Amino acid sequence: LRTIDWDDGAIVMVDQTALPDRLVTLRIEAVEDLVAAIGRLAVRGAPALEAAGALGVALAARGERDPGRVRALAARLAAARPTAVNLERGVRRALARLDDGPDAVRDEALALLAEDEARNRAIGRRGAAFLADLGLERPRVLTHCNTGALATVGWGTALGIVRWLHAAGRLGMVYATETRPLLQGSRLTAWELEDMGAEYRLVVDGAAAAIVARGLVDVVLVGADRIAANGDVANKIGTYALALAAARHGIPMVVAAPESTIDPATSAGTAIAIEVRPDAEVLRCGGVSVAPRGAAALNLAFDVTPADLVTALVTERRVLRPAAGERPVPGEDPR
Ligand code: MRU
Repeated sequence: LRTIDWDDGAIVMVDQTALPDRLVTLRIEAVEDLVAAIGRLAVRGAPALEAAGALGVALAARGERDPGRVRALAARLAAARPTAVNLERGVRRALARLDDGPDAVRDEALALLAEDEARNRAIGRRGAAFLADLGLERPRVLTHCNTGALATVGWGTALGIVRWLHAAGRLGMVYATETRPLLQGSRLTAWELEDMGAEYRLVVDGAAAAIVARGLVDVVLVGADRIAANGDVANKIGTYALALAAARHGIPMVVAAPESTIDPATSAGTAIAIEVRPDAEVLRCGGVSVAPRGAAALNLAFDVTPADLVTALVTERRVLRPAAGERPVPGEDPR
């Protein structure tokens, strides 16, 4: 099962808001519905958003004869969420084939989908080998948010490394943070770990540093939504705190992402747009109010981990050491 796919002129996707209770698929036939699905996180995770962007342009090109109208829909799609650069990447890639007709746009999107799973497997293999190089033959992993098959077309990035380790009989233990406010860790990552049959413990976000301090974790393994040219990493809110804990306790902080998450146009993390989501996501949990009436929230969906706290960046092509001064995009460091 692919998280997101094309079926006879429509996009089909797992509705991630229904998990873990129900595995429901959505059929989307209009770009406006896709924009809404992205906004409510029915599809989420940077690589899955890249696929959604490309498939959305295929949908637009199929339904509209006027190229100007297709481009306008594509722009709406690219702006549906601001932080993950992959969304606009997917949109731009498919849009580049618009002059060749709707079938060419669809084929480009389908090529992207096929590449996604292949590159994730490459990340898994490379990441597992890198951890062995660090002497971590059977690592105990702390992970955040969901970076698994559900965050991609298939297999996963950081959780793809976990999947690889598990398949090789090399996985120690996984500590998965629940990832408030939308619980991608407890709803989605735990669901995938259950499915894998991996040994894991779900922990509240606030417990992560203590678990690291207790010596229960060998490596922090997370994904990314946008990686600046200098190696700064935007990822789910709480990632920066994990990086600080990892640095304090001398364990590696490893970021796994496809090359398409690296944004040469963003020089440093300070230039990354951080999505601010509705207060209600913080003020309520599971449909129940968890704050007094009138309370206000600050719901930052992402944070930025500076490059000097990122021990390694694993992509489908390379392992890079940002903390040692290696930049994903060569050039002058603006800081
Ligand atoms: O708000 P989300 O669920 O889209 O946030 C997802 C993340 O932060 C992931 O860690 C990131 O997109 C990498 S997914 C392989």
